[in-house]
Amino acid sequence: MPLTAVFDVVGSLSWTQLALGATSFTILWFLVTSTVAWYKLRHIPGPFFASFSNIWLVWTAYSGLSHLIIDAEQKKHGSVLRTGPADVAIFDPETLMRINSARSPYTRGMWYRSARVDYRADSVLTELDIGAHGKRKSKLASAFSGKNVARLESKVDEWIAALIAKIHTNIASGRETMDIGKLVQYFQVDLISDIQLGEPWGDLEGNKDAFGFLKMSDNFLPAMQSFAALPLARAIYTSPWFMRLFGPKPTDTSGLGLFIGIIEKEVNRRFGSNIEKPSESRDLLDIWIDHGLTPDECQLDLSLLVPAGTETTASMIRGTLLLLGSSPVPYRKLKQELRDAIAAGRISNPVTNDEAKRLEYLQAVISEGFRLMVPISFGFPKVVPPSGDTICGKFIPGGTNVYPNYHGMMRNKEVFGHDADIFRPERFLDDEHKAAYMRKVTDLAFGAGRFMCLGKALALIEMNKIFVELLRNFDIQTASPERPWQRTGYTTWIIDNFLTRVTEDTTMR
Ligand code: HEM
Repeated sequence: MPLTAVFDVVGSLSWTQLALGATSFTILWFLVTSTVAWYKLRHIPGPFFASFSNIWLVWTAYSGLSHLIIDAEQKKHGSVLRTGPADVAIFDPETLMRINSARSPYTRGMWYRSARVDYRADSVLTELDIGAHGKRKSKLASAFSGKNVARLESKVDEWIAALIAKIHTNIASGRETMDIGKLVQYFQVDLISDIQLGEPWGDLEGNKDAFGFLKMSDNFLPAMQSFAALPLARAIYTSPWFMRLFGPKPTDTSGLGLFIGIIEKEVNRRFGSNIEKPSESRDLLDIWIDHGLTPDECQLDLSLLVPAGTETTASMIRGTLLLLGSSPVPYRKLKQELRDAIAAGRISNPVTNDEAKRLEYLQAVISEGFRLMVPISFGFPKVVPPSGDTICGKFIPGGTNVYPNYHGMMRNKEVFGHDADIFRPERFLDDEHKAAYMRKVTDLAFGAGRFMCLGKALALIEMNKIFVELLRNFDIQTASPERPWQRTGYTTWIIDNFLTRVTEDTTMR
Protein backbone atom coordinates (compact mmCIF):
# COMPACT_ATOMS: atom_id res chain seq x y z
CA MET A 1 0.00 0.00 0.00
CA PRO A 2 1.53 3.37 -0.95
CA LEU A 3 2.36 5.70 1.97
CA THR A 4 -0.27 8.30 0.96
CA ALA A 5 -2.97 5.61 1.21
CA VAL A 6 -1.81 4.78 4.75
CA PHE A 7 -2.06 8.48 5.71
CA ASP A 8 -5.56 8.63 4.15
CA VAL A 9 -6.72 5.64 6.24
CA VAL A 10 -5.17 7.06 9.46
CA GLY A 11 -6.65 10.50 8.70
CA SER A 12 -10.16 9.04 8.36
CA LEU A 13 -10.08 7.48 11.88
CA SER A 14 -11.65 9.08 14.95
CA TRP A 15 -9.57 9.87 18.08
CA THR A 16 -11.12 6.89 19.89
CA GLN A 17 -10.20 4.54 17.04
CA LEU A 18 -6.67 5.96 16.98
CA ALA A 19 -6.27 5.49 20.75
CA LEU A 20 -7.59 1.93 20.52
CA GLY A 21 -5.23 1.19 17.62
CA ALA A 22 -2.22 2.59 19.49
CA THR A 23 -3.08 0.59 22.63
CA SER A 24 -3.53 -2.63 20.64
CA PHE A 25 -0.24 -2.03 18.85
CA THR A 26 1.58 -1.46 22.17
CA ILE A 27 0.09 -4.63 23.68
CA LEU A 28 0.99 -6.63 20.56
CA TRP A 29 4.51 -5.19 20.57
CA PHE A 30 4.90 -6.07 24.27
CA LEU A 31 3.61 -9.63 23.68
CA VAL A 32 5.86 -10.25 20.68
CA THR A 33 9.03 -8.83 22.30
CA SER A 34 8.29 -10.59 25.60
CA THR A 35 7.75 -13.94 23.85
CA VAL A 36 10.96 -13.54 21.86
CA ALA A 37 12.80 -12.59 25.07
CA TRP A 38 11.30 -15.49 27.03
CA TYR A 39 11.99 -18.05 24.28
CA LYS A 40 15.78 -17.71 24.20
CA LEU A 41 16.27 -18.76 27.84
CA ARG A 42 13.01 -20.70 28.32
CA HIS A 43 14.91 -23.69 29.77
CA ILE A 44 16.43 -21.61 32.59
CA PRO A 45 14.27 -21.47 35.72
CA GLY A 46 13.62 -18.30 37.66
CA PRO A 47 10.87 -15.98 38.91
CA PHE A 48 7.98 -15.80 36.42
CA PHE A 49 8.26 -12.05 35.67
CA ALA A 50 12.02 -12.22 35.20
CA SER A 51 11.59 -14.48 32.17
CA PHE A 52 10.04 -11.76 30.01
CA SER A 53 10.75 -8.42 31.63
CA ASN A 54 13.69 -6.53 33.16
CA ILE A 55 11.33 -5.00 35.71
CA TRP A 56 11.80 -7.94 38.09
CA LEU A 57 15.54 -7.24 38.38
CA VAL A 58 15.03 -3.48 38.57
CA TRP A 59 12.52 -3.85 41.38
CA THR A 60 14.64 -6.42 43.20
CA ALA A 61 17.67 -4.15 42.98
CA TYR A 62 15.67 -1.13 44.14
CA SER A 63 14.34 -2.95 47.20
CA GLY A 64 17.80 -2.86 48.81
CA LEU A 65 17.35 -6.57 49.54
CA SER A 66 18.57 -7.96 46.24
CA HIS A 67 21.22 -10.04 48.02
CA LEU A 68 18.51 -11.89 49.97
CA ILE A 69 15.95 -12.13 47.17
CA ILE A 70 18.37 -13.37 44.52
CA ASP A 71 19.95 -15.74 46.99
CA ALA A 72 16.58 -17.24 47.94
CA GLU A 73 15.60 -17.61 44.27
CA GLN A 74 18.94 -19.19 43.44
CA LYS A 75 18.56 -21.72 46.25
CA LYS A 76 15.08 -22.55 44.97
CA HIS A 77 15.90 -22.79 41.26
CA GLY A 78 19.50 -24.01 41.20
CA SER A 79 22.92 -23.08 39.92
CA VAL A 80 21.75 -21.08 36.88
CA LEU A 81 18.96 -18.65 37.73
CA ARG A 82 17.10 -16.52 35.24
CA THR A 83 17.02 -12.93 36.48
CA GLY A 84 15.92 -11.17 33.29
CA PRO A 85 15.02 -11.74 29.63
CA ALA A 86 18.71 -11.94 28.69
CA ASP A 87 20.22 -12.33 32.16
CA VAL A 88 21.20 -15.21 34.41
CA ALA A 89 22.86 -15.38 37.84
CA ILE A 90 25.41 -17.97 38.90
CA PHE A 91 26.84 -18.89 42.29
CA ASP A 92 29.14 -21.69 41.24
CA PRO A 93 32.76 -20.59 41.97
CA GLU A 94 34.32 -22.78 39.25
CA THR A 95 32.11 -21.16 36.61
CA LEU A 96 33.12 -17.67 37.75
CA MET A 97 36.82 -18.61 37.67
CA ARG A 98 36.42 -19.97 34.14
CA ILE A 99 34.49 -16.94 32.88
CA ASN A 100 37.07 -14.54 34.30
CA SER A 101 40.15 -16.48 33.21
CA ALA A 102 42.84 -14.84 31.07
CA ARG A 103 41.83 -16.57 27.81
CA SER A 104 38.08 -16.49 28.35
CA PRO A 105 36.04 -15.35 25.31
CA TYR A 106 33.56 -13.57 27.61
CA THR A 107 33.31 -9.79 27.43
CA ARG A 108 31.91 -7.17 29.81
CA GLY A 109 28.18 -6.47 29.84
CA MET A 110 26.67 -3.03 29.16
CA TRP A 111 25.84 -2.95 32.89
CA TYR A 112 29.43 -1.78 33.49
CA ARG A 113 28.56 1.51 31.83
CA SER A 114 26.37 2.33 34.82
CA ALA A 115 29.60 2.87 36.78
CA ARG A 116 30.62 5.77 34.54
CA VAL A 117 31.59 8.80 36.60
CA ASP A 118 32.78 11.18 33.89
CA TYR A 119 30.66 12.10 30.87
CA ARG A 120 33.73 12.61 28.67
CA ALA A 121 34.92 9.01 28.37
CA ASP A 122 35.29 5.60 29.99
CA SER A 123 37.45 4.73 32.96
CA VAL A 124 39.24 1.38 33.08
CA LEU A 125 36.19 -0.04 34.89
CA THR A 126 33.70 0.96 32.19
CA GLU A 127 35.89 0.23 29.15
CA LEU A 128 34.05 -2.51 27.26
CA ASP A 129 36.69 -3.24 24.63
CA ILE A 130 38.54 -6.13 26.23
CA GLY A 131 41.83 -5.47 24.37
CA ALA A 132 41.87 -1.77 25.29
CA HIS A 133 40.88 -2.63 28.87
CA GLY A 134 43.77 -5.09 29.26
CA LYS A 135 46.38 -2.63 27.94
CA ARG A 136 45.14 0.18 30.13
CA LYS A 137 44.90 -1.97 33.23
CA SER A 138 48.46 -3.20 32.91
CA LYS A 139 49.72 0.40 32.93
CA LEU A 140 47.59 1.28 35.97
CA ALA A 141 48.61 -1.85 37.88
CA SER A 142 52.16 -0.58 38.40
CA ALA A 143 50.95 1.73 41.18
CA PHE A 144 49.64 -1.25 43.17
CA SER A 145 52.57 -3.61 42.75
CA GLY A 146 56.34 -4.03 43.15
CA LYS A 147 58.14 -1.41 45.18
CA ASN A 148 55.06 0.80 45.30
CA VAL A 149 53.41 -1.63 47.72
CA ALA A 150 55.75 -0.38 50.49
CA ARG A 151 54.53 3.15 49.83
CA LEU A 152 50.92 2.02 50.09
CA GLU A 153 51.69 0.22 53.33
CA SER A 154 53.14 3.30 54.97
CA LYS A 155 50.10 5.35 53.91
CA VAL A 156 47.82 2.71 55.44
CA ASP A 157 49.85 2.93 58.70
CA GLU A 158 49.53 6.70 58.70
CA TRP A 159 45.76 6.66 58.30
CA ILE A 160 45.14 3.83 60.74
CA ALA A 161 47.12 5.88 63.29
CA ALA A 162 44.84 8.85 62.54
CA LEU A 163 41.73 6.68 63.01
CA ILE A 164 43.04 5.33 66.32
CA ALA A 165 43.85 8.86 67.50
CA LYS A 166 40.31 9.96 66.63
CA ILE A 167 38.82 7.10 68.64
CA HIS A 168 41.09 7.90 71.63
CA THR A 169 39.85 11.50 71.48
CA ASN A 170 36.21 10.40 71.36
CA ILE A 171 36.69 8.15 74.37
CA ALA A 172 38.60 10.82 76.30
CA SER A 173 35.71 13.23 75.78
CA GLY A 174 33.16 10.75 77.09
CA ARG A 175 31.88 9.56 73.71
CA GLU A 176 32.53 5.85 74.10
CA THR A 177 29.47 4.98 72.06
CA MET A 178 30.20 6.12 68.54
CA ASP A 179 29.19 5.51 64.95
CA ILE A 180 32.31 3.59 64.06
CA GLY A 181 30.87 2.97 60.59
CA LYS A 182 31.14 6.68 59.78
CA LEU A 183 34.68 6.89 61.14
CA VAL A 184 35.72 3.95 58.95
CA GLN A 185 34.23 5.66 55.89
CA TYR A 186 36.08 8.90 56.68
CA PHE A 187 39.30 6.95 57.21
CA GLN A 188 38.90 5.20 53.87
CA VAL A 189 38.09 8.36 51.91
CA ASP A 190 41.14 10.12 53.39
CA LEU A 191 43.40 7.17 52.67
CA ILE A 192 42.35 6.84 49.02
CA SER A 193 42.42 10.58 48.32
CA ASP A 194 45.85 10.85 49.94
CA ILE A 195 47.22 7.94 47.93
CA GLN A 196 45.92 9.49 44.71
CA LEU A 197 47.20 13.05 44.84
CA GLY A 198 48.87 13.40 48.20
CA GLU A 199 45.89 15.55 49.33
CA PRO A 200 43.51 13.87 51.79
CA TRP A 201 39.99 15.24 51.80
CA GLY A 202 40.09 15.82 55.56
CA ASP A 203 36.98 13.79 56.48
CA LEU A 204 38.52 12.23 59.57
CA GLU A 205 40.00 15.45 60.91
CA GLY A 206 36.80 17.40 60.34
CA ASN A 207 34.65 14.45 61.42
CA LYS A 208 32.46 15.03 58.40
CA ASP A 209 31.87 14.08 54.79
CA ALA A 210 33.98 17.04 53.61
CA PHE A 211 33.20 16.82 49.89
CA GLY A 212 29.66 15.52 50.31
CA PHE A 213 30.76 12.44 48.37
CA LEU A 214 29.40 9.84 50.79
CA LYS A 215 26.02 11.56 50.90
CA MET A 216 25.88 11.82 47.13
CA SER A 217 26.83 8.19 46.75
CA ASP A 218 24.10 7.06 49.20
CA ASN A 219 21.52 9.22 47.42
CA PHE A 220 22.28 8.00 43.92
CA LEU A 221 23.22 4.39 44.49
CA PRO A 222 19.69 2.89 44.75
CA ALA A 223 18.40 4.44 41.53
CA MET A 224 21.68 4.01 39.68
CA GLN A 225 22.06 0.34 40.47
CA SER A 226 18.42 -0.47 39.81
CA PHE A 227 18.22 1.22 36.45
CA ALA A 228 21.50 -0.43 35.51
CA ALA A 229 19.35 -3.49 34.82
CA LEU A 230 17.08 -1.61 32.39
CA PRO A 231 18.89 -1.27 29.03
CA LEU A 232 16.95 1.78 27.81
CA ALA A 233 17.23 3.71 31.09
CA ARG A 234 20.90 2.80 31.37
CA ALA A 235 21.59 3.95 27.81
CA ILE A 236 19.94 7.29 28.64
CA TYR A 237 21.56 8.04 31.98
CA THR A 238 25.05 6.96 30.91
CA SER A 239 24.88 8.90 27.64
CA PRO A 240 27.28 11.86 27.42
CA TRP A 241 24.45 14.40 26.96
CA PHE A 242 22.53 13.17 30.03
CA MET A 243 25.64 12.95 32.20
CA ARG A 244 26.77 16.39 31.05
CA LEU A 245 23.44 17.79 32.28
CA PHE A 246 22.90 15.78 35.47
CA GLY A 247 26.11 13.86 36.27
CA PRO A 248 29.13 15.04 38.27
CA LYS A 249 31.00 17.91 36.60
CA PRO A 250 34.37 19.52 37.29
CA THR A 251 32.53 22.79 38.01
CA ASP A 252 30.44 21.30 40.87
CA THR A 253 30.93 22.72 44.37
CA SER A 254 30.50 19.40 46.20
CA GLY A 255 30.49 15.62 45.74
CA LEU A 256 32.38 13.70 43.12
CA GLY A 257 32.14 16.58 40.61
CA LEU A 258 34.20 18.84 42.88
CA PHE A 259 36.81 16.12 43.18
CA ILE A 260 36.84 15.55 39.40
CA GLY A 261 37.56 19.29 39.06
CA ILE A 262 40.43 19.10 41.55
CA ILE A 263 41.87 16.07 39.76
CA GLU A 264 41.61 17.83 36.41
CA LYS A 265 43.55 20.87 37.65
CA GLU A 266 46.22 18.73 39.29
CA VAL A 267 46.65 16.50 36.23
CA ASN A 268 47.04 19.59 34.01
CA ARG A 269 49.51 21.12 36.48
CA ARG A 270 51.69 18.00 36.63
CA PHE A 271 51.68 17.44 32.89
CA GLY A 272 52.29 21.16 32.31
CA SER A 273 55.46 21.37 34.38
CA ASN A 274 58.31 19.11 35.29
CA ILE A 275 57.81 18.77 39.03
CA GLU A 276 60.67 17.09 40.88
CA LYS A 277 59.52 15.34 44.03
CA PRO A 278 61.43 13.38 46.68
CA SER A 279 60.66 9.66 46.24
CA GLU A 280 58.88 9.36 49.62
CA SER A 281 56.25 11.94 48.66
CA ARG A 282 55.43 10.51 45.24
CA ASP A 283 51.77 9.65 44.82
CA LEU A 284 49.75 7.51 42.47
CA LEU A 285 49.52 10.22 39.80
CA ASP A 286 53.34 10.54 39.71
CA ILE A 287 53.63 6.78 39.21
CA TRP A 288 51.04 6.69 36.43
CA ILE A 289 52.73 9.58 34.62
CA ASP A 290 56.02 7.64 34.79
CA HIS A 291 54.27 4.62 33.27
CA GLY A 292 53.13 6.54 30.23
CA LEU A 293 49.46 7.17 30.99
CA THR A 294 47.99 10.07 29.03
CA PRO A 295 46.48 13.07 30.87
CA ASP A 296 42.97 11.84 29.96
CA GLU A 297 43.64 8.34 31.29
CA CYS A 298 45.05 9.77 34.53
CA GLN A 299 42.04 12.04 34.92
CA LEU A 300 39.45 9.33 34.25
CA ASP A 301 41.03 6.59 36.34
CA LEU A 302 41.83 8.84 39.29
CA SER A 303 38.16 9.90 39.36
CA LEU A 304 37.18 6.24 39.52
CA LEU A 305 39.33 5.29 42.49
CA VAL A 306 37.36 7.02 45.23
CA PRO A 307 34.03 5.37 44.28
CA ALA A 308 35.73 2.01 43.60
CA GLY A 309 38.00 1.98 46.61
CA THR A 310 35.99 3.49 49.45
CA GLU A 311 32.63 1.80 50.00
CA THR A 312 33.98 -1.64 49.09
CA THR A 313 36.77 -1.62 51.65
CA ALA A 314 34.78 0.32 54.23
CA SER A 315 31.94 -2.25 54.00
CA MET A 316 34.33 -5.07 54.62
CA ILE A 317 35.92 -3.37 57.64
CA ARG A 318 32.53 -2.43 59.10
CA GLY A 319 31.15 -5.90 58.44
CA THR A 320 34.03 -7.66 60.13
CA LEU A 321 33.84 -5.31 63.10
CA LEU A 322 30.16 -6.13 63.45
CA LEU A 323 30.89 -9.86 63.32
CA LEU A 324 33.67 -9.55 65.89
CA GLY A 325 31.76 -7.17 68.15
CA SER A 326 28.86 -9.58 68.40
CA SER A 327 30.75 -12.91 68.61
CA PRO A 328 32.49 -13.32 71.99
CA VAL A 329 34.31 -16.57 71.22
CA PRO A 330 36.12 -15.49 68.02
CA TYR A 331 36.65 -12.05 69.56
CA ARG A 332 38.45 -13.51 72.59
CA LYS A 333 40.52 -15.85 70.43
CA LEU A 334 41.70 -13.01 68.19
CA LYS A 335 42.58 -10.85 71.18
CA GLN A 336 44.54 -13.75 72.66
CA GLU A 337 46.43 -14.32 69.43
CA LEU A 338 47.45 -10.65 69.40
CA ARG A 339 48.40 -10.72 73.08
CA ASP A 340 50.61 -13.79 72.52
CA ALA A 341 52.18 -12.33 69.38
CA ILE A 342 53.01 -9.07 71.16
CA ALA A 343 54.43 -10.91 74.19
CA ALA A 344 56.60 -13.08 71.94
CA GLY A 345 57.79 -10.07 69.93
CA ARG A 346 56.25 -11.46 66.74
CA ILE A 347 54.51 -8.25 65.77
CA SER A 348 55.79 -4.68 65.64
CA ASN A 349 53.89 -1.52 66.42
CA PRO A 350 52.29 -0.91 63.97
CA VAL A 351 52.08 -4.47 62.70
CA THR A 352 53.71 -5.01 59.31
CA ASN A 353 51.84 -6.64 56.46
CA ASP A 354 54.16 -9.65 56.51
CA GLU A 355 53.78 -10.15 60.25
CA ALA A 356 50.00 -9.98 59.99
CA LYS A 357 49.99 -12.62 57.26
CA ARG A 358 51.55 -15.03 59.76
CA LEU A 359 48.78 -14.56 62.33
CA GLU A 360 46.69 -17.61 61.64
CA TYR A 361 43.54 -16.69 63.48
CA LEU A 362 43.56 -13.13 62.14
CA GLN A 363 43.75 -14.49 58.60
CA ALA A 364 40.82 -16.80 59.31
CA VAL A 365 38.80 -13.84 60.68
CA ILE A 366 39.58 -11.79 57.56
CA SER A 367 38.53 -14.62 55.22
CA GLU A 368 35.35 -15.14 57.20
CA GLY A 369 34.67 -11.40 57.10
CA PHE A 370 35.10 -11.29 53.32
CA ARG A 371 32.81 -14.24 52.97
CA LEU A 372 29.90 -13.15 55.13
CA MET A 373 30.18 -9.43 54.44
CA VAL A 374 31.22 -9.65 50.80
CA PRO A 375 31.57 -6.02 49.66
CA ILE A 376 30.05 -6.59 46.19
CA SER A 377 26.91 -8.70 46.45
CA PHE A 378 25.82 -8.97 42.81
CA GLY A 379 26.79 -7.36 39.52
CA PHE A 380 29.63 -6.96 37.02
CA PRO A 381 28.05 -9.31 34.42
CA LYS A 382 30.05 -10.89 31.67
CA VAL A 383 28.56 -11.60 28.25
CA VAL A 384 28.45 -15.11 26.78
CA PRO A 385 30.42 -15.31 23.47
CA PRO A 386 28.33 -15.50 20.24
CA SER A 387 28.70 -19.29 19.96
CA GLY A 388 27.09 -19.76 23.38
CA ASP A 389 28.41 -21.67 26.38
CA THR A 390 27.41 -24.53 28.64
CA ILE A 391 27.15 -23.41 32.26
CA CYS A 392 26.53 -25.99 34.99
CA GLY A 393 25.21 -28.39 32.34
CA LYS A 394 22.85 -25.87 30.68
CA PHE A 395 23.34 -24.30 27.28
CA ILE A 396 23.34 -20.50 27.49
CA PRO A 397 23.00 -18.65 24.17
CA GLY A 398 25.47 -15.98 23.04
CA GLY A 399 24.77 -12.44 24.26
CA THR A 400 23.35 -13.51 27.64
CA ASN A 401 24.57 -11.51 30.65
CA VAL A 402 25.99 -13.76 33.37
CA TYR A 403 25.87 -12.07 36.78
CA PRO A 404 27.95 -13.48 39.63
CA ASN A 405 25.79 -13.79 42.75
CA TYR A 406 28.69 -13.16 45.13
CA HIS A 407 26.48 -13.13 48.21
CA GLY A 408 25.17 -16.62 47.45
CA MET A 409 28.57 -17.92 46.36
CA MET A 410 30.14 -16.93 49.67
CA ARG A 411 27.45 -18.81 51.59
CA ASN A 412 27.42 -21.86 49.36
CA LYS A 413 27.02 -24.82 51.74
CA GLU A 414 28.76 -27.20 49.33
CA VAL A 415 31.91 -25.11 49.63
CA PHE A 416 31.74 -23.75 53.18
CA GLY A 417 29.80 -26.45 55.01
CA HIS A 418 26.36 -26.73 56.58
CA ASP A 419 26.96 -23.75 58.91
CA ALA A 420 27.96 -21.43 56.05
CA ASP A 421 25.72 -18.64 57.36
CA ILE A 422 27.54 -18.55 60.71
CA PHE A 423 30.64 -16.52 61.62
CA ARG A 424 33.10 -19.29 62.46
CA PRO A 425 36.69 -18.45 61.48
CA GLU A 426 37.77 -21.95 62.59
CA ARG A 427 36.42 -23.34 59.30
CA PHE A 428 39.59 -21.92 57.69
CA LEU A 429 41.78 -23.74 60.22
CA ASP A 430 40.14 -27.16 60.55
CA ASP A 431 41.35 -28.96 57.44
CA GLU A 432 44.12 -27.39 55.35
CA HIS A 433 43.00 -29.00 52.08
CA LYS A 434 39.41 -27.77 52.40
CA ALA A 435 40.56 -24.41 53.76
CA ALA A 436 42.82 -23.81 50.73
CA TYR A 437 39.82 -24.19 48.42
CA MET A 438 37.60 -22.04 50.66
CA ARG A 439 40.22 -19.29 50.60
CA LYS A 440 40.34 -19.50 46.80
CA VAL A 441 36.57 -19.03 46.64
CA THR A 442 36.60 -16.22 49.21
CA ASP A 443 39.24 -14.52 47.10
CA LEU A 444 36.65 -14.24 44.31
CA ALA A 445 35.19 -11.30 46.28
CA PHE A 446 37.76 -9.31 44.27
CA GLY A 447 36.77 -10.83 40.95
CA ALA A 448 39.40 -12.93 39.22
CA GLY A 449 41.73 -13.27 36.24
CA ARG A 450 41.58 -10.44 33.74
CA PHE A 451 38.71 -8.83 35.66
CA MET A 452 40.45 -8.84 39.04
CA CYS A 453 40.08 -5.77 41.25
CA LEU A 454 42.95 -3.35 40.75
CA GLY A 455 43.04 -2.29 44.40
CA LYS A 456 43.19 -5.79 45.87
CA ALA A 457 46.75 -5.50 47.22
CA LEU A 458 45.90 -2.24 48.97
CA ALA A 459 42.64 -3.59 50.42
CA LEU A 460 44.42 -6.68 51.78
CA ILE A 461 47.13 -4.59 53.43
CA GLU A 462 44.39 -2.61 55.11
CA MET A 463 42.60 -5.73 56.36
CA ASN A 464 45.83 -7.24 57.63
CA LYS A 465 46.50 -4.18 59.76
CA ILE A 466 43.31 -2.51 60.81
CA PHE A 467 41.84 -5.22 63.07
CA VAL A 468 45.20 -5.73 64.79
CA GLU A 469 45.62 -2.04 65.50
CA LEU A 470 42.03 -1.51 66.61
CA LEU A 471 41.98 -4.51 68.92
CA ARG A 472 45.38 -3.90 70.47
CA ASN A 473 44.14 -0.44 71.48
CA PHE A 474 40.46 -0.94 72.20
CA ASP A 475 37.64 -3.26 73.10
CA ILE A 476 34.75 -3.09 70.70
CA GLN A 477 31.18 -4.28 71.13
CA THR A 478 28.00 -3.55 69.20
CA ALA A 479 26.01 -0.94 71.09
CA SER A 480 22.50 -2.05 70.13
CA PRO A 481 22.57 -5.83 69.55
CA GLU A 482 18.88 -5.99 68.62
CA ARG A 483 19.52 -3.62 65.68
CA PRO A 484 23.27 -3.15 65.27
CA TRP A 485 23.00 -1.17 62.00
CA GLN A 486 20.80 -0.42 59.03
CA ARG A 487 22.17 -2.02 55.91
CA THR A 488 20.73 -2.13 52.40
CA GLY A 489 22.39 -3.71 49.39
CA TYR A 490 22.76 -2.09 45.97
CA THR A 491 25.69 -4.11 44.53
CA THR A 492 27.69 -2.37 47.28
CA TRP A 493 26.13 -1.50 50.62
CA ILE A 494 24.64 1.49 52.34
CA ILE A 495 25.29 1.15 56.05
CA ASP A 496 23.93 3.58 58.63
CA ASN A 497 23.92 3.92 62.39
CA PHE A 498 26.55 1.33 63.13
CA LEU A 499 26.81 2.25 66.79
CA THR A 500 29.53 0.57 68.79
CA ARG A 501 30.80 0.94 72.32
CA VAL A 502 34.57 1.36 72.17
CA THR A 503 36.65 1.33 75.36
CA GLU A 504 40.38 1.57 75.98
CA ASP A 505 42.33 -1.68 76.34
CA THR A 506 45.67 -0.82 77.93
CA THR A 507 46.77 -4.42 78.49
CA MET A 508 48.56 -4.70 75.15
CA ARG A 509 50.41 -1.40 75.08
C1 HEM B 1 37.53 -5.04 50.01
C2 HEM B 1 37.74 -4.23 49.05
C3 HEM B 1 37.41 -4.41 47.59
C4 HEM B 1 36.67 -5.36 46.96
C5 HEM B 1 35.97 -6.56 47.58
C6 HEM B 1 36.68 -5.05 45.55
C7 HEM B 1 36.04 -5.79 44.57
C8 HEM B 1 36.08 -5.50 43.23
C9 HEM B 1 35.37 -6.23 42.21
C10 HEM B 1 34.46 -7.43 42.47
C11 HEM B 1 35.66 -5.65 41.02
C12 HEM B 1 35.08 -6.00 39.67
C13 HEM B 1 35.64 -7.22 39.04
C14 HEM B 1 34.97 -7.51 37.72
O1 HEM B 1 34.94 -6.68 36.81
O2 HEM B 1 34.50 -8.64 37.60
C15 HEM B 1 36.57 -4.56 41.27
C16 HEM B 1 37.12 -3.75 40.30
C17 HEM B 1 37.93 -2.69 40.55
N1 HEM B 1 38.37 -2.25 41.78
FE1 HEM B 1 37.97 -3.13 43.57
N2 HEM B 1 37.43 -3.92 45.36
C18 HEM B 1 37.90 -3.50 46.58
C19 HEM B 1 38.73 -2.42 46.83
C20 HEM B 1 39.28 -1.61 45.88
C21 HEM B 1 40.21 -0.55 46.15
C22 HEM B 1 40.76 -0.18 47.52
C23 HEM B 1 40.49 0.04 44.94
C24 HEM B 1 41.40 1.17 44.61
C25 HEM B 1 42.02 1.96 45.38
C26 HEM B 1 39.74 -0.68 43.93
C27 HEM B 1 39.77 -0.39 42.59
C28 HEM B 1 39.15 -1.14 41.61
C29 HEM B 1 39.26 -0.85 40.19
C30 HEM B 1 40.03 0.29 39.55
C31 HEM B 1 38.51 -1.83 39.53
C32 HEM B 1 38.34 -2.01 38.02
C33 HEM B 1 39.30 -3.07 37.53
C34 HEM B 1 39.15 -3.39 36.07
O3 HEM B 1 38.79 -2.51 35.31
O4 HEM B 1 39.44 -4.52 35.66
N3 HEM B 1 39.01 -1.67 44.54
N4 HEM B 1 36.82 -4.48 42.62
